[in-house]
Amino acid sequence: MKVGLMYNDIAPLRQILWAENPHGVQQMEATVAAVRTALDAGGYDVKEWALPPAPDLGALAAWDVDLVFNLITGITGKALQIHSVALLEMLDIPFIGSPLEAHTVCLNKWLTKLVLVRSGIPTPPFQRISQSSGFIKSLPFPFPAILKPIREGSSLGITQNSVVHNHRELEQQARALFDQFQQDLLVEALLPGREFTVGLLGNDPLRVLPIQEIIYARWPQHLPKIYSFEAKTYDLPARQCPALIRNPLRKNLERLAIASAKALNTADLLRLDLRLDANGNPMVLEANALPGLQPIYSEYPRMAEAGGISFELLIIELVKAAKQRIGSEGSA
Ligand SMILES: Nc1ncnc2c1ncn2[C@@H]1O[C@H](COP(=O)(O)OP(=O)(O)OP(=O)(O)O)[C@@H](O)[C@H]1O
Ligand SMILES: [Mg+2]
Repeated sequence: MKVGLMYNDIAPLRQILWAENPHGVQQMEATVAAVRTALDAGGYDVKEWALPPAPDLGALAAWDVDLVFNLITGITGKALQIHSVALLEMLDIPFIGSPLEAHTVCLNKWLTKLVLVRSGIPTPPFQRISQSSGFIKSLPFPFPAILKPIREGSSLGITQNSVVHNHRELEQQARALFDQFQQDLLVEALLPGREFTVGLLGNDPLRVLPIQEIIYARWPQHLPKIYSFEAKTYDLPARQCPALIRNPLRKNLERLAIASAKALNTADLLRLDLRLDANGNPMVLEANALPGLQPIYSEYPRMAEAGGISFELLIIELVKAAKQRIGSEGSA
């Protein structure tokens, strides 16, 4: 079987400011190399494609592959992540991972939350803020709140200043984010409880990987307990996988993750971030349709590893899940 390994052309990535994507280049290079090794070891005939910002569509349409392993991330403002999926769908090239519709929804935290709410899945109360509509004078939930750009990842725009306690701080931080990101913002109720990330693998069966907890026990007192840009960049918090949780909570997190995948119509792989509210009830924060896949560093392969699925096996499992899904779609 011919597997196309598609990733971002590295040269344009090098032009991006460190502050906008601290590990972008290194993460992409490490991930491509590891996935390539795993696919080779699995006996697949691997063909690589480093997609430039303006790809040759004719050449892509003529690419002789059976399935694409898409590693394109939206390093330049998140757009390319869905554009590459759109190209593959448009050209009718089978690929691993969610359809365009699901990527589009997951990339936008506000749309994700609309789908979750509509599906009865708990998520913190929220409001969208757009620059044109002016600053909000009242929130439909009490402070403290957290403010974030509506479509970023890797905690871009999430810093110590993201937690706001009154309208003055909200407005100040909103102005700073509008200036930096030129996109709408999401303000939501700050959940004070434990934080988890849940990985899903496959479709039928849909497997839940061991749950990982982000541990804030040794967090500096003066900092808000959020997995901020600084925290991710410098790998600050401790992470515990499998999380030390009792059965009712574990089942609840698993149930919410599976319900979210169904509601968002994702495929093959998904990583969800969840947090407990003041009463200990889990809520879904956001969904990552293309979670980081860098061995050892990224959460998703770490969770697989904790479940006895080595990185190489994980990659093969993803290929098999996509193949099976596409086969069953074809025969439907
Ligand atoms: N409503 C909330 N209540 C409490 N903490 C929150 C809330 N929303 C976000 N956080 C904190 O901020 C972190 C980053 O938020 P979020 O997961 O939405 O950003 P992201 O940039 O999309 O992350 P990723 O790197 O997973 O793509 C979370 O891991 C969590 O610690
Ligand atoms: Mg997150």
